[in-house]
Amino acid sequence: MPRNIFVLTGAGVSAESGLGTFRDRKGQGIWARFDPMKLATPEAFARDPETVLAFYDSRRRNLREAKPNAAHLALARLEAGLAQRGGKLTLVTQNIDDLHERAGSRSVIHMHGELLKARCVGCDSVLSWLDDLRVGDVCRDCGRAGTLRPHVVWFGEMPFFMDLIDRALRRADLFVAIGTSGAVYPAAGFVADARACGVPTCEINLEAADNAGLFDEARYGPASETAPRWVDELIGPEP
Ligand code: OAD
Repeated sequence: MPRNIFVLTGAGVSAESGLGTFRDRKGQGIWARFDPMKLATPEAFARDPETVLAFYDSRRRNLREAKPNAAHLALARLEAGLAQRGGKLTLVTQNIDDLHERAGSRSVIHMHGELLKARCVGCDSVLSWLDDLRVGDVCRDCGRAGTLRPHVVWFGEMPFFMDLIDRALRRADLFVAIGTSGAVYPAAGFVADARACGVPTCEINLEAADNAGLFDEARYGPASETAPRWVDELIGPEP
């Protein structure tokens, strides 16, 4: 049994919690309805901060209504189960929601940032932020106004924790991607990096991702069913 597992999650893991995905085959994803270049780039924020903040405010409000689903719970159980066996789960998520944490995951690497945080571009502080974020809000650390932005990674920006992720990927003895379309780099390239290091790879997704051909194994279906089944196979069903 693999003891050192690297899991990458994407929007598909939170889809059944009602948060929506960015891309789907029916063309109903978030980026089919909203233009990412107007909402998720530093240039958009500089040009029209009110519109960008309103988009993230509405996502933050949706998140307050959402609950973790069986896939999040299964990954929290896997973390604890591997730790009991002297192993380790590295859980890297592209999701900016906090559903992994609310399901009980203790260590979550948010490579695309966190919706419930704001960052001050003046002093670099990262603040817990649960309410709407307004242009002109004041940084609690440095006292400046108008320097806060959502603590999320926008297109054209470097994701967080890349060195840590790279080291964990090299040490893993299994790489699993769950609920991600394989369309956005650098996360979409992790499977190739894992392969290059001789790490076996598995895709768990509703349907084949853009990079499906690079995985050794694939399990298709809703994450709320496929992820718990996979975790049961690894560490046994819940007692
Ligand atoms: P996408 O929306 O691109 O892909 C979601 C994936 O989840 C697709 O492959 C779906 O088939 C799959 N899916 C949908 N429902 C599912 C379910 N119930 N169970 C399992 N899988 C399901 O989301 P990501 O790959 O996470 O970045 O997108 C990557 C990045 O693109 C996001 O982090 C975001 C976005 O632009 C930024 O905003 C920087």
